[in-house]
Amino acid sequence: LPILGNALELKAGRFHQVVESWARTYGDVFRFRIGARRIMAVADPHMINAVLRDRPDRFLRTSRLVEIGQEMGLTGVLFANGEEWRRQRRMVMSAFDPGHVRRYFPALVDVTRRLHRRWLAAAERGDAIPLQSDLMRYTVDVTAGLAFGTDINTLEAKSSVIQQHLDQVLPMVSKRLIAPFRYWRVFKLPADRRFDRHLREINRAIGEFIAQARGRLEADPALRERPDNLIEAMIVARDAGDSGLTDADVAGNVFTMLLAGEDTTANTLAWMIWLLSSSPQARRLAQSEVLEVLGGDPVLTRIEQTAALRYLEACINETMRIKPVAPIIFVQAGNDATVADVAVTRGTILALVMRAGATSERFFPDPETFDPERWLGQDEAATDMATVRRVPMPFGAGPRLCPGRYLALQEIKMVTAMLLANFDILSVASADDGEVRERLDFTMAPVPLLLRVAARAAPRSAP
Ligand code: HEM
Repeated sequence: LPILGNALELKAGRFHQVVESWARTYGDVFRFRIGARRIMAVADPHMINAVLRDRPDRFLRTSRLVEIGQEMGLTGVLFANGEEWRRQRRMVMSAFDPGHVRRYFPALVDVTRRLHRRWLAAAERGDAIPLQSDLMRYTVDVTAGLAFGTDINTLEAKSSVIQQHLDQVLPMVSKRLIAPFRYWRVFKLPADRRFDRHLREINRAIGEFIAQARGRLEADPALRERPDNLIEAMIVARDAGDSGLTDADVAGNVFTMLLAGEDTTANTLAWMIWLLSSSPQARRLAQSEVLEVLGGDPVLTRIEQTAALRYLEACINETMRIKPVAPIIFVQAGNDATVADVAVTRGTILALVMRAGATSERFFPDPETFDPERWLGQDEAATDMATVRRVPMPFGAGPRLCPGRYLALQEIKMVTAMLLANFDILSVASADDGEVRERLDFTMAPVPLLLRVAARAAPRSAP
């Protein structure tokens, strides 16, 4: 349409499915328009991989994402470009490396025990569990513990929790990203004013995390030499004066970590629990592996156990292939470039259609079926394993690959192992009794799900 372009076709929440259907019709490279913005879509996984690797300078986070992030105080690594990104990325990487996650493991066990207690109580009362909301409490508790050294324990909190405010942020980022006009800069709708109140609550909580970390650094100056976590490392770097980091960078990264670790991991878990509930054979195999590895314990207690869960890991990979929580990644050309044989001028926005290859028969036989076996290298008909591993890219690729992936995989294993060892899944259904649909609010979530479980007799090892 004139002026609006394709904006009316790109329905809120279903943006990704519309672009995916265009990819099936028009092929690996095509173009669409939202208002005045022309967007080039790329659906071929090899081309996508080449673009993602050609960062941070040739392809950037889009200027609109950076601006919207800045308006909200999201100035962390996920939203940064260029030198600023390089500085922040180094610090974030060291806070999330496997060594740190290993040292944090005992706290991860404690948080998992809390979720176990919460679900046991729900099973005893016969209550349905609001799946995503419980999982987000879990992921926020884990991120705050690992990255900020603060045990916020939203899982056992009775009153309002930070996660209720965080939940509002990514849907608003998503809405503003695809809005044809930046109306909120001129006037605020009631939803924008409500959102500002959520932001104030989040900033208050972030201020407290930072104050607590400063308190620890003052109480134990040796921590300045060997900070325990991301927030301490950032404060030390900011105080050193030559890092170029500001108070706003520290707060922006705290905010970014809470968001980046919350929805992504919780929604992947929600999808996986739903897929396991609808696939009895996969569930049985995963459950028997879990019972054997746990050997009678209700939760995993040693990090080596997580490595032994090969079938469960295949279920995770298969979930992320079919239900990637980031089905579209936007980038913007920082310089003139060529993608395959297409010339791309500076400033062009690219929509990378991440799921197109992962659910194409070109790479995966019977692509719509949830089949964890294809990740175990035993399926003769499957394309070679190298392709199986390279095509889906659920954590992105190249220099901006998700730094939280190792933590996320541990969280997903901890929760699903706890669920399968202690409960029988009775049902997983949409809260409004409708179909389990996808909804894209920056991350791709299922509509709100209710989980019903029955406690099993004390977990036993498989015979
Ligand atoms: C299953 C869970 C997760 C999925 C599927 C996921 C996926 C992604 C994806 C697709 C990206 C963009 C990568 C790119 O541009 O190439 C990303 C970036 C990022 N993720 Fe994750 N993520 C997950 C969990 C986490 C966790 C637990 C954290 C931290 C607590 C985290 C922190 C980040 C950060 C900071 C970035 C920005 C990296 C940068 O721009 O340099 N993620 N993630």
